[in-house]
Amino acid sequence: MSATPHYAARPHLADLVEELKAKGAIRSEPWAEAFATVPRHVFVPRWYEQETNDRGITVWRLQHSIHEDRLPQVYRDTTLVTALDPNTAEQVDTNAWTGFPTSSSTLPSLMAGMLEDLTIEDGHRVLEIGTGTGYNAALLCARLGDGLVHSIDIDRALIATARERLAQINYRPQIIDGDGRDCFPTGIEYDRIIATCSVPHIPPAWIDRTRPDGIILTDLDLGIEGGLVRLSVDADHRAFGHFTASGGRFMPARSEATAYPRRDRAPLAPETATRATTVTAADIRSNYPFRLLLALELRDAELVYHSADDGTMSIQLQQPDGSWARTPFVGDATVTHGGLPGLWQKAEAAWAWWNEHGRPSQDRFGYAREPWGTARAWHIPTGRHWDL
Ligand SMILES: C[S@@+](CC[C@H](N)C(=O)[O-])C[C@H]1O[C@@H](n2cnc3c(N)ncnc32)[C@H](O)[C@@H]1O
Repeated sequence: MSATPHYAARPHLADLVEELKAKGAIRSEPWAEAFATVPRHVFVPRWYEQETNDRGITVWRLQHSIHEDRLPQVYRDTTLVTALDPNTAEQVDTNAWTGFPTSSSTLPSLMAGMLEDLTIEDGHRVLEIGTGTGYNAALLCARLGDGLVHSIDIDRALIATARERLAQINYRPQIIDGDGRDCFPTGIEYDRIIATCSVPHIPPAWIDRTRPDGIILTDLDLGIEGGLVRLSVDADHRAFGHFTASGGRFMPARSEATAYPRRDRAPLAPETATRATTVTAADIRSNYPFRLLLALELRDAELVYHSADDGTMSIQLQQPDGSWARTPFVGDATVTHGGLPGLWQKAEAAWAWWNEHGRPSQDRFGYAREPWGTARAWHIPTGRHWDL
């Protein structure tokens, strides 16, 4: 059993439920009950919190919740990182590491909002991609009964721990070890598929395994930006829907248990010019739906934060051929670029279009994947579309 008795967690569970209701994330009684029932600390007895250490390095410091006086830290509306990629994690002192996170217990308000958006009904069979700690699988078990819940993760070690922790509170859903993009029990159709890792396109296996009128909810990673899409699957295997009003991003689905694949990029082209611009770094940073539009417009591009030798921070767009353009956060609204021209003009044209159309939010963008594999997004009122 968990070291902390569940009664000690009850007031914290109740507080978390009230907070999630106040934020509009929990919108129905069944999910309020599920969140009030499942003790998060059983699934997250330790986690890593980011801090800048005394040498100015950003590190992940290990935290424990096993003492009752530390329970409030687990029952916060916060993402708690629970695993680091061993290939990038370097120990910097007794309980701190650098490195990329490979698993976490998702922000509870994001999880609650997604579970509500799934419109689960009694008797639905649900597949979760990305078991992680098992906390969300436990919430699904509390709502539906463990016989209707399947959950899959690429990381075998996480699976083993999640299974044990679920059993501690008497849930025994089917927990599967494998790549959730295409590897789950044969012969089963799901009413709902929810992914807590992102994918660049909807895997065909998900569509094949969703019963007609079933729903897929996932984070779609479109490069520069991405977001949650809620798609209903019809009898012809077309998945059709839109980005959800509540945004949220997840770590990408990987093919290996612990490491992310590295992206090949050409070296950045030499700098060619600097000029005035109509779209600034602050415009890009503070407008999520605009970044989503940029991702639709500039399919191969990436958006990164660039730090110059003099400490100037910029937002930089870059393409696989080495072309780039960057605009600083402070000073005049200018863009400096290198390689093929045109990248930043497209960003400026997208900014003008987004403003002329009343700054549409992400849920004004539809998304569909056709049975033959092509996908498109569109702006809902005007029908302007992007083939993806
Ligand atoms: C944000 S965490 C999931 C959080 C989890 N739902 C919870 O409640 O703790 C994302 C998870 O996706 C898993 N993952 C990454 N790639 C995957 C893949 N191809 N198939 C299945 N799981 C994957 C990671 O190992 C990680 O545990």
